[in-house]
Amino acid sequence: MKNSFKREAKGSGRGSNEPVLAFPEVRLDPPHKPNGHNGLRAAARPNGSGMAAPFLDRRPAVRKSLKAAAKARARRSVRRMPMDKVLKESQRWLNIIDHPERLSVAQKKRIVKETVKSFGTYFNSGFLAYRKSVAEADQYASIEWTGEGSHLQDIMGRDYIDCLGGFGIYSAGIRHPKIVQAVRSQLEQMPLSSQELLDPLRGALAEILGEVAPGNLQKCFFINNGTDAIEGAMKLARLHTEKSGFISTLRGFHGKSYGSLSLMGKAEFRVAFEPLLQDVYFVEFGDADEVEWQLKKARDVGLDIAAVVAEPVQGEAGAIVPPDDYWPRLREICDEYDVLLIADEVQTGMGRTGKLWGVDHWDVVPDIMCLGKAVGGGVMPLSAFISTKEIWEVLEKNPFLHSSTFGGNALACAAGIAAVNVTLSEDLPGQAAVAGDYFLAGLREIQARYSDVVVDVRGKGLLIGIEFMDTEFGYAVSSGLFRRGVLVAGTLLNAKTIRIEPALSIPRKEIDEVLNRLDDTLRSLT
Ligand SMILES: Cc1ncc(COP(=O)(O)O)c(C=O)c1O
Repeated sequence: MKNSFKREAKGSGRGSNEPVLAFPEVRLDPPHKPNGHNGLRAAARPNGSGMAAPFLDRRPAVRKSLKAAAKARARRSVRRMPMDKVLKESQRWLNIIDHPERLSVAQKKRIVKETVKSFGTYFNSGFLAYRKSVAEADQYASIEWTGEGSHLQDIMGRDYIDCLGGFGIYSAGIRHPKIVQAVRSQLEQMPLSSQELLDPLRGALAEILGEVAPGNLQKCFFINNGTDAIEGAMKLARLHTEKSGFISTLRGFHGKSYGSLSLMGKAEFRVAFEPLLQDVYFVEFGDADEVEWQLKKARDVGLDIAAVVAEPVQGEAGAIVPPDDYWPRLREICDEYDVLLIADEVQTGMGRTGKLWGVDHWDVVPDIMCLGKAVGGGVMPLSAFISTKEIWEVLEKNPFLHSSTFGGNALACAAGIAAVNVTLSEDLPGQAAVAGDYFLAGLREIQARYSDVVVDVRGKGLLIGIEFMDTEFGYAVSSGLFRRGVLVAGTLLNAKTIRIEPALSIPRKEIDEVLNRLDDTLRSLT
């Protein structure tokens, strides 16, 4: 039955598949759509190796692009926008920020057009083709405007149930009032750090995290992105062990800066940037025997391994839950071979999987734990890596060995303190466990009805993956859901498994609504 699903009708005259969200007044042709949607779909189709062909080009035509850049520089001797116009334009946007409620419908439509244009001309036109908000919104671009809890609204008032959660940042929901209030108050007090005086919120959040982290994890460092947390953890592991190698997992995702990218278990993100760190060895996720075998080989031939790095549940790979003995065995094996165990909790932390930390499912205490995404409460960017007093000592001799200008700023720490408070006071992990079981049960019923196209439903808590028969079908489902007002992960290039990561407090009636709309989407496609 491969690829024999019905395409959903597009544009006018849809008939019985009329999407919930049609908004014909704002009709925009995405400017960057080579060969229309089908061209992109073709590019997205697996090419035997399971990867999208454009991303395997090892080297872009560097010389050609440098020449083009020189020509463009020469052409742009006169600025496109005179300075007084830049001033006016920025003032116009300040007014919009100050008074969004004053916008007329015509002004909103203008913003839709302008946003598509400015993304294409000044940001990255690629996103226009790959984001469903433009490429798959029946050509009516959807411009993010506001949100609350598990709902998002675009500028024209279209409502979406948010099951993407910004890839896991909105565990406490969008604009949780307590977290917003903490940041607002701190903004009036002191937004960033002097870098000389001691800032109290940094200390307070470090203590709070040190007290709720597993086992003897106690000391931490703050930065802004998940990838920064991984970089710090890798440096700390090398410093402490005086060894250089890492063991990472196939399809593991740890970020896209050079160190974290070196741990990346997916060729399509690595190839263009090779050579990355050389002494990284990859093993199958969930297979502790393979980790042991790799460490044995390394020891026998004298390779130095500093740490084993893994996600408690693989997120980006599609909510892959390891066997129950995996993490306990990793702990034992790392101890036996004198290697550190790094848990990447950037996505699984703060209750996402139904426990405060992913490793709590198996009562394992890693040596270093990386946090990100939801730790900033969905309001501020915040990440951290945290370890034991003993391991941390190497950073204390010279604290400037690792530093960050904005990491641990007062606004982010206010958000982090509020996020922990909300997570504990509202028992978000407990809510995720119950809601996750309910969601998974509903999805499994749907899987039973559409077993020829839905290959697997899996997950833990509210980190859920639905695997389809192929990327093209998965993309059709995620875009069908989008048109029915449900946001889920799933791009043209990566939709074989779509991820569901809503707010941990998502009400049951919202889950029922998502299940109904998924059922409707699948019915229309099969
Ligand atoms: C497990 C994991 N680690 C690290 C990262 C990188 O985080 P960031 O995109 O904030 O750098 C991600 C991002 O999705 C992730 O899922």
